[in-house]
Amino acid sequence: MNGFVRKPQTLDELIRSLHVLFDDDKVDIDEVKSLLYAYKSNPDEWMRFAKFDSYRYTRNLVDAGNGKFNLMILCWGEGHGSSIHDHTNSHCFVKILQGQMKETLYNWPTKSNHKQQLNKKAELLYDSGQVTYINDSIGLHQVENLSHSESAVTLHLYSPPFDQCCCFDQRSGHRYPVKMTFHSKFGERTPFTTEEIAENN
Ligand SMILES: [Fe+2]
Repeated sequence: MNGFVRKPQTLDELIRSLHVLFDDDKVDIDEVKSLLYAYKSNPDEWMRFAKFDSYRYTRNLVDAGNGKFNLMILCWGEGHGSSIHDHTNSHCFVKILQGQMKETLYNWPTKSNHKQQLNKKAELLYDSGQVTYINDSIGLHQVENLSHSESAVTLHLYSPPFDQCCCFDQRSGHRYPVKMTFHSKFGERTPFTTEEIAENN
């Protein structure tokens, strides 16, 4: 980690440090991971962003960055999970703030037009405090809160920000574009849109 970025004591400090890191045009993946890892999850700081829905996980914008990244909190009720998706050529960092998440990694489908089941390449479990990273060169993934009794909260950083990705059907390899929306921004619930029922990452 460079000398200008110290261990963040609060979520606000983490956000300020992220702005410093992303001021540079080059993203140092290990440096961002280290910074996210160094932040000790404090629910008092992020609770106002953590807005749950009964039926599906939610995306809640925390900081719009300086145009180079955005930071959001995803809230996963019991049993909630994402589709299998890509990351639109962006970096994706995830820190578990509360609960436990399962990540299933898949290989990209081959270019053939034949229906083809996606190949699963890894299943990983992450506990509170852990940080993970993915981009399109690593593959596709699905993220799930498998617990039937505990919710989960995750902090996601995407660089550059994007509002559309591709989701994939595991059995056929078929892909379909999905537009993503925010359930809330800066702690305020966003107006309901029909897109909100669409699956997103
Ligand atoms: Fe993802």
